[in-house]
Amino acid sequence: MQDQLQPFLDKGNGDSRNFAPDMAEPKQTDRMEKIVSLCKRRGFIFQSSEIYGGINGFWDYGPLGAELKRNVKEKWWRSMTQDREDVVGLEASIIMHPKIWEASGHTSTFSDPMVDCLLTKKRFRADQIEPQSGTVYKYTGATIKTTGTTVNKPFEALLQKGDHPDRARKVARQFYAQGNAEIPLDQIDLLGEETTPVENSTRYNPENGSLLTDPRPFNLMFKTYVGPIESEDSVAYLRPETAQAIFVQFKNVLDSSRQKVPFGICQIGKAFRNEINPRNYTFRSREFEQMELEFFIKSDEAAAKTPATASNNPGTQANWGWEQWHKYWVDERVKWYESIGLDRNTLDFYWQKKEELAHYAKATVDILYKFPFGTQELEGIAARGNFDLSQHQQFSGKSMEYFDEETKERFVPHVIEPSAGVDRLILALICNAFAEEEVTDEKGNKETRVVMRFHPRIAPVKVGVFPLLKNKPELVKKAMEVRDLLRPHMNVFYDEAGAIGRRYRRQDEAGTPYGITIDFDTLGEKPELKDTVTLRDRDSMKQERMPISELLAFLLSKIR
Ligand code: GAP
Repeated sequence: MQDQLQPFLDKGNGDSRNFAPDMAEPKQTDRMEKIVSLCKRRGFIFQSSEIYGGINGFWDYGPLGAELKRNVKEKWWRSMTQDREDVVGLEASIIMHPKIWEASGHTSTFSDPMVDCLLTKKRFRADQIEPQSGTVYKYTGATIKTTGTTVNKPFEALLQKGDHPDRARKVARQFYAQGNAEIPLDQIDLLGEETTPVENSTRYNPENGSLLTDPRPFNLMFKTYVGPIESEDSVAYLRPETAQAIFVQFKNVLDSSRQKVPFGICQIGKAFRNEINPRNYTFRSREFEQMELEFFIKSDEAAAKTPATASNNPGTQANWGWEQWHKYWVDERVKWYESIGLDRNTLDFYWQKKEELAHYAKATVDILYKFPFGTQELEGIAARGNFDLSQHQQFSGKSMEYFDEETKERFVPHVIEPSAGVDRLILALICNAFAEEEVTDEKGNKETRVVMRFHPRIAPVKVGVFPLLKNKPELVKKAMEVRDLLRPHMNVFYDEAGAIGRRYRRQDEAGTPYGITIDFDTLGEKPELKDTVTLRDRDSMKQERMPISELLAFLLSKIR
């Protein structure tokens, strides 16, 4: 899927070595700007290396973001493996044998077509250049009058309709000055000017009209060297996906876990891609996390020979073919998204067309989320045949066959792969949670309340605990007791600073679903209310009284 918008970033220093966020992007949506600003202000997401001007495509998660991310990964892990009989986990290294990437096809084909601006050297993804129309100004070379030298090099620049021709000439003169700021542009005579009209061309830099290079494949894998010698023999790559480790450990996991096909191996971990245009805030990053499952199944032919018995996991059948397993996993994944607060109506689905599918893939459906900047991919669920295991069998010379005890047959298992991005999901959850609403405070004044409506299961902080007044030791003592009662079971935030209304608002912005206030009734001012507290619901802002003894069970029922 291609995303259409630009990075939503704080200002960088414009460093042209691609370390800084891109400054030349058009207007961002208001909602995204507010979300980005809240994420920084409240400590969800920070730009990586911000004090040095940032580094494009890299992000850090602050205290609330780190909790949110941890909760999401924990829920995924639990639903994918701990709650199931037929999936086990793996935690593999990031740097692996480089042959793996040859076998998987990443060394030869994991690339984007890339073009460079001849003037600024800025790099673009060729398939992301908007078609432009206008007049092309072509030159055969230029003479530098101050030095009397002639450069015989063709160059062209596109003049957009309505622009003055001197604009194209200025771009050409800058090109022939070759970055030498000492040469005054009026001392450059352009040679052999010719003009040609052009329609819908993607050969020119949309920012300045300069000609671009022809598209060249740009491999997205980050390269490094293993050991003390930097040579071709020591090249290794930071993994661009977590999936391949699962394939290469298939046999070890199978032998050690005593699983039977159909079964799956899942993994959560970092992946790295040297994306040409990181964009849309954290949506397309250069370092990100994936949550991937490789679910190994029988080929349709092998499945057809299998009796229709239940597989290791209730509701599924050992003799299902790839279509049933694929559909099953799409349904499972949608149910999971719903369980963490992304309603079905916030999602969309894209079935890749035949011509878009990888040659070995039978079907791929993308689960999309309706981001403020467009409907974009969260997760891809692919039926990948037995391509990956077969490739590793061929490249490693080690058998990847599975022996089926029931049918006494050997085969290389096929695979269904639900592959999700953690960071994209976090961004979706943040966008989904963000709400602004007008409310009336205790004094009758209207104000705007910013509230992050995270599902309690994934909310970074589950409950805020507040003594009504901080200068009343009995209230503080009781509030601390309540905090200590809940803390072993969930993330609790204790806050005694400021008016109670402001403390609620702070937790609304953090997305804390519940607030507990310890007041004088808790201490027994009204004897019938002794040892009860007020429990505030973040979304309705309603408060009810609840005995302290019931708090833990109530909160656990909401966050599990
Ligand atoms: N093993 C299959 C695979 O890696 P993919 O569609 O390239 O498939 C899977 O990636 C998921 O990883 C995507 O749906 C997305 O959520 C996430 N992802 C991929 N590239 C990303 C990037 N540059 N930044 C953030 N997330 C990314």
